[in-house]
Amino acid sequence: MFRKKKNQSTIEPQQVALVEHAQKRIAQKKRFHTHLLISLFVVFFSMVLNFAFDYKIELMPFNTYWAFAVGALLGILLLIHFLRVFVFYSFMGKVWEMEQMEFLLDKQAIKVEKLKRAMDKEAALKANAEWQRENQNKKVTMIAAAGENNALGKDNQLIWYLSDDLKHFKNLTKGHHVIMGRKTFESMPKALPNRTNVIITRQKDYKAENAHVVHSLEAALAFVEDDEQPFIIGGGEIYRQGLDYADSIELTRVHEEFEADTFFPEIDSAKWREVWRENHDKDEKHKHAFSFIRYEKIHA
Ligand SMILES: NC(=O)c1ccc[n+]([C@@H]2O[C@H](COP(=O)([O-])OP(=O)(O)OC[C@H]3O[C@@H](n4cnc5c(N)ncnc54)[C@H](OP(=O)(O)O)[C@@H]3O)[C@@H](O)[C@H]2O)c1
Repeated sequence: MFRKKKNQSTIEPQQVALVEHAQKRIAQKKRFHTHLLISLFVVFFSMVLNFAFDYKIELMPFNTYWAFAVGALLGILLLIHFLRVFVFYSFMGKVWEMEQMEFLLDKQAIKVEKLKRAMDKEAALKANAEWQRENQNKKVTMIAAAGENNALGKDNQLIWYLSDDLKHFKNLTKGHHVIMGRKTFESMPKALPNRTNVIITRQKDYKAENAHVVHSLEAALAFVEDDEQPFIIGGGEIYRQGLDYADSIELTRVHEEFEADTFFPEIDSAKWREVWRENHDKDEKHKHAFSFIRYEKIHA
């Protein structure tokens, strides 16, 4: 009875269950219809008896004239049903059964799809909770200093010298892995001491003294897996890619606009929440006012 839909080469167990369920429902409907016909027939027959032999069945609420009229009406209806079911075969015929089957199959398929979606959602929530449990102490942090216009550097150099900012950078990153793009690495005289330097480049034969070389940001993050707080330290290209992976940003906002050729990406306030800030005025050691700002990613 089950007709395969186009492009359906194999029947999955769920589909077999759906077919069996649909067939059961059709049989139930058929049985209901048969019962209805038999009941109508009994009513009609008792009326005929009542009229023909004057049995005076006490429950019958009609006089013989009305009993005849109702019986005749039921008889006509019965005849119509009879013709439709057994002669014209349009109702409950093969085509009707097939339509019913497809209708029920579609209904069941929607239900199964809904269930699947609910299960997928639950699995995703579980996986996320597991990931959060495993990584609750791990925090990928981007650390940068940027002007009011997000300026980072020019001609592969930093634009300003702020000694307290360098101390801040040193204190936070000491003992950790620092991930940087090849250009930032080359802008420094040597690898940063007391930290594990990880350099990202697409050049397969690139060599860097006292540093580990990888060929993608993902490879860098895999390499620093055991560090509870690895730092992405620039430059512009790497910060842009790092935004998706970072959990926090340690930003030194230098309160001026600068001419630059490299910029920090825009921090979307819908995705990042400022959680800490410390302001510094300019003084004899610092040519520009600046603020240390910590952002945490807003996890949905
Ligand atoms: N203000 C700050 O806090 C700060 C911090 C750091 C840097 N900076 C400044 O930023 C500037 C440098 O930034 P930048 O954007 O020009 O360069 P960058 O991000 O330091 O390095 C870019 C290089 O990284 C490699 N790279 C990038 N994405 C990669 C990927 N997905 N897979 C493999 N390799 C990849 C490529 O190296 P190859 O070309 O070798 O393939 C690319 O040329 C300098 O001016 C520097 O002073 C400022």
